[in-house]
This record gives sequence, structure tokens and C-alpha cells, in this order.
Amino acid sequence: MMLRRWMAAGLVAVATAGVLNAVPATAQRPYDPTAQSLRALGQRHGLYVGTAVDMAALADPAEPRYREIVRDEFSTVTAENVMKWESLEPTRGNYDWSAADELVATARRNGQKVRGHVLVWHSQLPKWLTDGVADGSIDNAELRSILRRHITTVASRYRGKIWQWDVVNEAVSDPWDTPSTLHYKGFWAEHLGPGYVADAFRWARAADPTALLFYNDYNIEAFGSGDPANDKTQFVFDMVKGLLGRGVPIDGVGSQGHLGTQYGNYDTLQVADALHRFAGLGLSTAFTEVDVRSRLTDGVQAGDSEEINPRLQASAANFHVLLQACLAEPRCLSFTVWGFTDRHSWVPGTFDDPPQGLATIYDENYQPKRSYQLMKADLIYAGPPYVRTRATPKPRR
Ligand code: G3I
Repeated sequence: MMLRRWMAAGLVAVATAGVLNAVPATAQRPYDPTAQSLRALGQRHGLYVGTAVDMAALADPAEPRYREIVRDEFSTVTAENVMKWESLEPTRGNYDWSAADELVATARRNGQKVRGHVLVWHSQLPKWLTDGVADGSIDNAELRSILRRHITTVASRYRGKIWQWDVVNEAVSDPWDTPSTLHYKGFWAEHLGPGYVADAFRWARAADPTALLFYNDYNIEAFGSGDPANDKTQFVFDMVKGLLGRGVPIDGVGSQGHLGTQYGNYDTLQVADALHRFAGLGLSTAFTEVDVRSRLTDGVQAGDSEEINPRLQASAANFHVLLQACLAEPRCLSFTVWGFTDRHSWVPGTFDDPPQGLATIYDENYQPKRSYQLMKADLIYAGPPYVRTRATPKPRR
């Protein structure tokens, strides 16, 4: 009986192969997941795979590969710099939308979603604003109304075109700051107090009813001691829980994912646990700025493979940990890398003493690295029951 069924199946297979052999070469190509893009493989799980985009590189005629990879490999894009306040309003009252509009138009052409980055951050603020506050010509009451106007102006302009907005970025200190007890840090907290966080979400929601509104930060990949005085993930968890409790329209938490191979980092289960706990509050999550940098030792710079290989492998392992954890949590909506090529990465310009780099998934010549291959493998070899398709959240009112 078994033998007969097996023989029958074999005959069908032979007949099918004969039919397939008769069709044109392109149609008979077997399904090969390794030939699929990250965006296509992510789609199997409803997961959007994204990159930050450097608009100068995107516009550079000498960089066709940059444009092709942005278009082909990713289903969501983030402006690396051009939606920041200093870029949008370099002089008071005069908004320059050109580069940000270009990013949104490019995404539309490419069939990509846009993560808006960023409405409120203490960094990359226009000089007229920080100077005005420093010299006392802008007092705190005016500052609050300027912030409200900025959020309203930007979120209104892109209403309906932004999938996820990073409404507030990096509001919380790190244990190495002074004082070391975690606190609300930076320009906005200093001048407006921590209440600006709730205000920002309310103003953003009033201007754009359809975007998912995110709080975005680094060093919140996993829980630590559980003490909000020194565990940043716990501090952020308590903060967003408090916001939800007060009816503030927050939809998600973005975990940036800037890691380095010289640190201890995390395992998949720790990261999945953190995502799961945020999901337990009814929030979406996303990895928003993933890169994994390494020390560029003398050996690395001299091309010593014994020094380079372990770094490339450790970097890949960290991309893998974050992506696998994201896949495991249906409320983890997207996985965005902060630049995809070492040719255009913020890392070497920022960490130069000692030098660091090798942080992205393609090398400087646009060759995919082990980290790219491992991300691809994660997307290929994942599925039910532990990896299910993503949830579709409704923006909170
Ligand atoms: O725009 C000027 C340009 O006019 C000038 O010629 C050039 C010379 O250095 O500098 C340009 O400004 C640079 C800007 O990027 C645009 O390229 C700044 O010096 C540089 O500091 C700035 O760095 C950005 C950094 O944010 C600023 O904090 C990085 O590109 C950007 O990747 C980085 O992104 C942040 C996220 O927004 C938030 N999370 C952390 C992440 C990494 O720091």
C-alpha cells in the first residue's frame, strides 16, 4: 500500500517535471530563498525590514548601488538626518522641506513605508532655538509653544504618509551620566520638565491621527536589575506604562539597537523577553537603528584576518539576536538598520578615539557581509508556531 502510494507520487513528480521542462527557462527556476531580498523575506512574516537613508548618498550620481540596495532590499526607510529640526527649520519660521519631501517621494516610488525621525530630540536642534534659550530671548513658556508649533507643523505636513513617528527620542539618561540615578535628561526636560513627553504625544496625535506614535531610545534592548534607578529599560517601561495610564496616545517603543562587539550584549531570550513585556502593555515595538560596531584595532586596519573575522562574526551574531527576538514577538513590527553599508555609516565619524567601524551589513564596496547573510537566514528559517505574522495595531486615540 505504502509502496504503491510512493510509486504513484513518483510518477506524478516525473510527469510534473516533464511539464515544467517544457516551459520557458525563467518560469522553471525553483524557489530559492537565498536569492530573495530582505524585504521579500520579511514579508513572509509581515515584518518590515528597513534602513536609515543618507540623502546625500541617495542623490549622488556616483553611487548607483546605494540607490539600488535601498530600493531592492528594504520595505521601510527612515531619514537619517533630514527630518531633524535643524534640517527642517534652519532659520526661524522658514521650513525647508526639500530633502524630507524627497525621502517621502522616494519611499512612495519604491513601495516603502516611512518611519518619521524625529519630532522631539535634544540633539540636532537649530541654532536659533538653542541660542535663543541660552541668551534668554526665548523663555520657557515660549519654548513650549515653539515645540508645539513644530510638532504640529511637521506631523501635519506628512499626515497620512508616515507609518511610525519617533515622537520623542532619547529622553532618559544613562547610568554613566551625572547624576548616575536615571532621570529625564537633556534640553527639553531641563527647560520644560518631564511633562513635555506627554504633551509631545498629544500634539503629534492631534496633527496626525493615523501614524503609530513611538518613544525611541538606545540601551533598552533587555531588562537588567529591574531597579528603575539604574536599569534604563525598566525606567522606560515604567515611563510608558505611566503614559498609557494617563491616556497619552503612545503606540510603541522603538529600541534603537546600537551595539558593539566589545561589549557583553544580550542573548535572544533576554531581548525577546523585553519585547514581550512591552507588548504586554499593549504597545508595538520595533528595532529602529540597528548597527553593531567594532574596534578598528591596528590589526584590523592592517587587514589581519585573525582580527577581522571574529569581529565580523560577533557583529553578525548581534544582528541575529535582535532580529530573532523581533521575529518571535508579533508586536515587533519592523527591523531597521542605521545605514546598510560601511561606506556611509555614522560610526567612524563619531567613534574615532579609539577608532570604530565595521558596523553595518554591507562592506564599503557594497558586498554583503556575514551579518547580512545571517539576517537572511533568520528570515528564511523562521515560521510557526513560534514565529507568527505581525499584529496590525490601530493608532491609539
Ligand atoms: O550638515 C553638516 C554639513 O553641513 C557639514 O558639512 C558636515 C561636516 O561634518 O556635517 C554635517 O552635519 C553632520 C550631520 O550628521 C549630517 O551629516 C554632523 O556633523 C553629524 O554630527 C551628524 O551626525 C548624525 C548624528 O545622529 C548626530 O547626533 C548622524 O549622521 C546620525 O546617524 C545620528 O543618528 C542618531 C539618531 O538620530 C538618534 N539615535 C542615535 C543615532 C546615532 O548617533
